Amino acid sequence: MRVVIADHPLVTHKLTVLRDERTPPATFRLLIEELTTLLAYEATRDVRVESVEITTPVAPTTGVRLSRPAPLIVPIIRAGLGMLEGMVKLLPTAEVGFLGMKRDETTLQPETYAERLPEDLSGRQCFVVDPMLATGGSLAAAIQFLFDRGADDVTAVCILGTPEGISAMREMVGEHNVTLVLGALDQGLNEQAYIVPGLGDAGDRLYGTVD
Ligand code: PRP
Ligand code: URA
Repeated sequence: MRVVIADHPLVTHKLTVLRDERTPPATFRLLIEELTTLLAYEATRDVRVESVEITTPVAPTTGVRLSRPAPLIVPIIRAGLGMLEGMVKLLPTAEVGFLGMKRDETTLQPETYAERLPEDLSGRQCFVVDPMLATGGSLAAAIQFLFDRGADDVTAVCILGTPEGISAMREMVGEHNVTLVLGALDQGLNEQAYIVPGLGDAGDRLYGTVD
């Protein structure tokens, strides 16, 4: 598994405001979207393209367009929804599938409660988005879901990750073609398996506490 950690002052600046507990939900949502667009630039570095002939006002030339089948973006509901607009801004022709997952805060195991994905993902480039890679259980389960449908080229985009999460992902991913793009690699997990220093509960900060 290839791991790319963003190294850009704009990312670090936006992350600092995002982490701040005083940042209100409206600003938090905007920053998640902006950060995702910055990370998407890196995450789409190997997006498949094919050549296309066009004519400019001056001369014919050869360019590229995104290959078919269109890339598939998969936000992990809830918090991943906050990243969707940031991704489709860079990939406007992508299709979007959905996975709903909730980490059980006692067992730390992810429960899948919703799924809307194509049955056959062979040949599709998949981009999974979730702001938080904590223990790695949720993202690993989401990517396993995609493998089970035939996906063989998966890029995961997370705002924050941990060494524990990366290890769990490496173990699950094995020799599969997976790239992980992170806005920052944090120190680790606390006793509740929250990312330290992290930003708190991403879903709650985006959408409020619903349970
Ligand atoms: C958060 C986050 C990830 C998961 C990360 O979602 O968005 O999906 O926790 O934790 P893990 O790496 O230990 O599995 P949560 O389960 O809180 O659901 P939500 O998005 O609905 O708030
Ligand atoms: N889920 C979150 O939203 N935040 C964490 O720090 C860990 C899991």
